[in-house]
Amino acid sequence: MAAVGLFDSGSGGLSVLREIRKILPDERFIYYSDNAHCPYGEKSASYIIERGRAITGLLLSKGAEAVVVACNTATAAAIATLRAEYAVPFVGMEPAVKPAATGTRTGVVGVLATAGTLKAPKYLNTKGQYADAVRIVERVGRGFVELVEAMELEGEHAEAVVRESLQPLLDAGADTIVLGCTHYPFLLPLMQRIAPPGVHFIDPAPAVARHLVDVLKEHGISLVDGDPGVELLSSGNDLTLNKLFELI
Ligand code: DGL
Repeated sequence: MAAVGLFDSGSGGLSVLREIRKILPDERFIYYSDNAHCPYGEKSASYIIERGRAITGLLLSKGAEAVVVACNTATAAAIATLRAEYAVPFVGMEPAVKPAATGTRTGVVGVLATAGTLKAPKYLNTKGQYADAVRIVERVGRGFVELVEAMELEGEHAEAVVRESLQPLLDAGADTIVLGCTHYPFLLPLMQRIAPPGVHFIDPAPAVARHLVDVLKEHGISLVDGDPGVELLSSGNDLTLNKLFELI
């Protein structure tokens, strides 16, 4: 049975699946949460490539005809290798620096992402293209992935953790903040309460969903086979995955 496979270090990629299902409601999806190896943020590229290979192999064996790397960190570390090694198309994530640079009024763009994403050549190249036009300030969303994996999306502790990384961007004058990790959109309601009105957060997931549609068309992949739905898989405990899935 044909399907689109997705994977992330954990449940964060569900923020991407949510957007994809808005425009492809009748398809079959297989989502793999690698939560036994989460977080990816501080892991080496070679480790993430190995995980990417193992997960891609599994997704393909279950009928995936395209793979969405629903993780910025894994995209930066592994997508080029996976594209070279497997015949199916891969769609990845990229921090939305371009729309942020176009949209900012203060000229300051904030980027929240993992350490792995922020030091990857892929991100550094993208940033280099816009560095002249705007000031880009970055922070690792320290502890954000752990909050989401613990389903702690609200409350005093979550707010303190989020404020710690978000406040420096706001203090630097950022009016546009790029969510450069797929876990972070689950903390958006909290971030919006912390940030003053008028601060705009950009989640690249809707653009990635539109891009997936184009890629499927380009490759002549027609998935609709009368069996829509989502299969959830994980390498560890799937409690968060199932609970967060109910929220999307
Ligand atoms: N959700 C992932 C990302 O987009 C990975 C976060 C992590 O495991 O550190 O970067």
